[in-house]
This record gives sequence, C-alpha cells and structure tokens, in this order.
Amino acid sequence: MYITQINLKNFRNYENQQIILNKGINIFYGDNAQGKTNIIESIFLCSMGKSFRSKKDKELIQFNQASATVQVDFERKDRSGNIKAQIAPKKEFFINGVKQNKISNVVGKINVVTFSPDDIKMIKGGPDGRRKFIDMMISSLKPNYMYLLNNYNKVLEQRNTYLKQMATEPKGEALLEVLDEQLAELSYQIYEYRNRYFEKFSAIIQDMHDIITNKKEIIKIKYLSNAQDKSGFLKNLQQNRKLDLTRGYTSSGIHRDDFLIYINHKAVAVYGSQGQQRTTTLTLKLCELRIVTDEIGETPILLLDDFMSELDETRRRSFLENLENNQVIITCTDNIEIEKEHIQSFYVENGVVHAEERK
Ligand SMILES: Nc1ncnc2c1ncn2[C@@H]1O[C@H](COP(=O)(O)OP(=O)(O)OP(=O)(O)O)[C@@H](O)[C@H]1O
Ligand SMILES: [Mg+2]
Repeated sequence: MYITQINLKNFRNYENQQIILNKGINIFYGDNAQGKTNIIESIFLCSMGKSFRSKKDKELIQFNQASATVQVDFERKDRSGNIKAQIAPKKEFFINGVKQNKISNVVGKINVVTFSPDDIKMIKGGPDGRRKFIDMMISSLKPNYMYLLNNYNKVLEQRNTYLKQMATEPKGEALLEVLDEQLAELSYQIYEYRNRYFEKFSAIIQDMHDIITNKKEIIKIKYLSNAQDKSGFLKNLQQNRKLDLTRGYTSSGIHRDDFLIYINHKAVAVYGSQGQQRTTTLTLKLCELRIVTDEIGETPILLLDDFMSELDETRRRSFLENLENNQVIITCTDNIEIEKEHIQSFYVENGVVHAEERK
C-alpha cells in the first residue's frame, strides 16, 4: 500500500501544507527543527490513532491556533481511501469523511512500520518499551487486541484504586474478587495474542538476523509472562493480595510481561556488545516488517525517522535492496544518494515543504 498525499492544517509548525508523495522512496531533508519528524508524526497519527511522542493531543495543534487537521490519502491493493484526524482540542477521526466513534476502527487502516534510532531502547531500556513495541504491532493488525488491552487497563486501574482505598478505609474484598476474575479473563486473552505473535517472531528471527549479520550467531527470543494459565494466574492474584494491599498496586499480570533476546545463549541486553544490540534491534524490526507484510498481504509503508544516519553506506544499500516495493518515507539532515527508481526529494524549511524536481 502507499500514501498518495498528506494535507496538514495548523499541525505542529505547518500552517497549510499539501504533500504529494511518490509511491517509491520519499526523502525529507533539511536542518534540525524544521518539521521533518512532524511529517512522520502526522502519518503515524492517522495510522495508529495517536502520536509517538506526545501524550497530549493539544501539543499537536499549532501554537495560538484552536484546531489542527491531518488528512492522509492512501491506495491499497483493493481500495483507496483517506483518514482524517481533527484535534480541536478533542481528537476525532474520520474514514472517507465518516466520523468514527472508536479509535480501534481507525488503527491499522494505514499500515506502517517505523524505524528510528530510538528503537535500541527496546533492547537497552526497561520492559515498557518492549511491551509498547509488541502492543503497537498487534493492535495495528488486530483491532480486538487494542480493545482488550484498553479494557484490561481500565480494570487494572479500578483494582489499583480499590487497593489504595482499602488501606485507608474499611472495605470488603468482594469487589476485588470480581475484578480479579475480570483481570484473569482479559489477561489470558491478551496472553494468547502475544504468545501467537512471539511464536511468529521465533519462527523467523534467525533468518532475519542472518540477513544483516555475516557472522553465524544463534539468536532466540523468549516471551516471559505470568498469565499463561488462567486459573494459575487467578490463584497468583489471590495469593499476592496481601502484598498488593501493602503496595497499593497489582504486582502481577500482563502489564508486567516482557521478552528477552539471546545471542549465542546469552541475554543480549546484558552481555551483547553495542554492535550486537544495534543489529538485534534491526532484526526485531525486520521481523515486524515480515510479519505485517504476511498478515496484510501487501507491503506496509516504512517510516524511517533519522534512521539512515544510523547505518553506514553498505548497510544502507543492503537495507534498501532487501525491501520489496514498499513505499518509504525517510527524514535526514543531508539529502542522501540512493540508486533506485521512484525517488522524490523534499526540502523542509521552517514548516514549509518544497518538492524538488523528479529525477
Ligand atoms: N504545536 C506546535 N506549534 C508550532 N510549532 C511546533 C509545535 N510543536 C513543535 N513545533 C516546532 O516544530 C519544530 C520541530 O519539528 P521536528 O521535530 O519535525 O523537527 P525536525 O526537522 O525533525 O528536526 P531534527 O532534525 O532535529 O529531528 C520545532 O521548531 C518546534 O518548535
Ligand atoms: Mg526529527
């Protein structure tokens, strides 16, 4: 699939901008703080229903303006359409002009896979980043997953609030019983989805790793969860109730899930070199790309924010050569030379995009 055009109105530092995209490679270059990432962010917003860097939608509205709109027009193999996001300051979405009442309707209508230098946090950082990675991917493919996850978070919040109240005022445990049942049910369904996708990762991770490393390294991925068995998990919740009461939060559940990567049987987060951690990050993203492509039956759009600067010339070339016919949207500070068909460069300067003459 590919995007044909983007229209931005009072979005970040764009007042009124139309961008006509090439179905191959699109390079947005320019100095720092000119608005390159803002373009990637606008596409991500229409794809995933939220920004990847702001929790507050209001921040997306241009300073001193009341509302922002982003419209992304796309072509899929069997249909074309558009997604419009309006932030005024409440966020609303429209598919082909029809207002949507659930964000999960919008998510995944435009399929993107993003690559950024921050991805390495997935290996080096805490489990939040890893859960976010897997959650985003599954949500974009399975709207029901996002729905389950939202419900889980609501019940979890209720349980945590109740635990805190119980510490200060006399309250029975009856509501906890109900919430525990609900958590166990939702946890198990979410576990099933995650487990199915980790199996997909396991099946291809070695092949993906072999593409980018010439050394023979054995790579493995392991999913860690304490929710794999519903009745066991429920017992676990009940056993931990005293502990949860003193802590004031729920200490077990799929909100604590994690995954580990091993290279030659050693955890790469602990024992891996800087280079191994980087290649492992890329391996995970390539797995994501393969899984998404297989599942949607066409090529997703790649968003590469500052990512090319991470790779040396040879890796850059082999990365691009290994792509199928994906539409690629690249941001960088210096225009990069790529020998491929269908390339369009855009010079970005202070919230204005200048399309350069096609080669
Ligand atoms: N709500 C907003 N209204 C107006 N301008 C904004 C808003 N939010 C961010 N900006 C401006 O957008 C610019 C940053 O845009 P962006 O992150 O896209 O830069 P960039 O070109 O990707 O830079 P870099 O090369 O450093 O990554 C900054 O100048 C910032 O002040
Ligand atoms: Mg940027």
